[in-house]
Amino acid sequence: MIGIIGAMEDEVAQLKKNMEIEETTEVASLSFCRGKLSGKEVVVVRSGIGKVNAAICTQILVDQFHVDVIINTGIAGSLDAEIDIGDIVISTDAVEHDMDASIFGDPIGQIPQMDTFSFPADESLVKLAKEVNEKANPDVHTWIGRVVSGDQFVSSGEKKEQLIRVFDAKCTEMEGAAIAHAAYLNKISCVIIRAISDKADNSAVVDYPAFEAAAIRHSVRLIEALVSEI
Ligand code: ADE
Repeated sequence: MIGIIGAMEDEVAQLKKNMEIEETTEVASLSFCRGKLSGKEVVVVRSGIGKVNAAICTQILVDQFHVDVIINTGIAGSLDAEIDIGDIVISTDAVEHDMDASIFGDPIGQIPQMDTFSFPADESLVKLAKEVNEKANPDVHTWIGRVVSGDQFVSSGEKKEQLIRVFDAKCTEMEGAAIAHAAYLNKISCVIIRAISDKADNSAVVDYPAFEAAAIRHSVRLIEALVSEI
């Protein structure tokens, strides 16, 4: 079973429209939509924004829907001058950038007493997503690298520079690392796939709404093609 967590209402709505829906179940105020997408059994859900919503949603997908793969889609702010609005970033790994226990000697991002700094994506899913995106969205540039997540919409040059310096990440958003964290604890495969909506600096709030429709088109096309290949 494949779980698909979308951050944007419109994106999830489009996936649901393209699905053969078998059942919709409400758990913890979230609406889990089970059925077939591209001929595969999936559960599509909108987690809500932020790390706590994302982690709760992931655990329910594991416990109640028995997913063995989780795909997280949505939009993100670019952390690399070369990565432009409209490009797609596929995660190698994810870090919670707002975790800071550095007073005890841990690097920023390290969750104290955990055996990993970052939460890895499934390597075969990453490879497959890249191949599939090059076919599904041939005009869209695909990047592979670290995603950082925090309960913060990044919209200042200063914060952006700090994230680049500390984490060497490709993009920032607000859920992916929490989903990858929950997937890691449950020993299931996951990948984060994000379309770039803004540059995570002073221009971020202006760019964000303008790009949403195109981001949804690209990510829905990619998700459908990827699900059919899993
Ligand atoms: N999602 C899209 N753009 C973002 C940004 N700049 N910061 C956090 N989450 C985002």
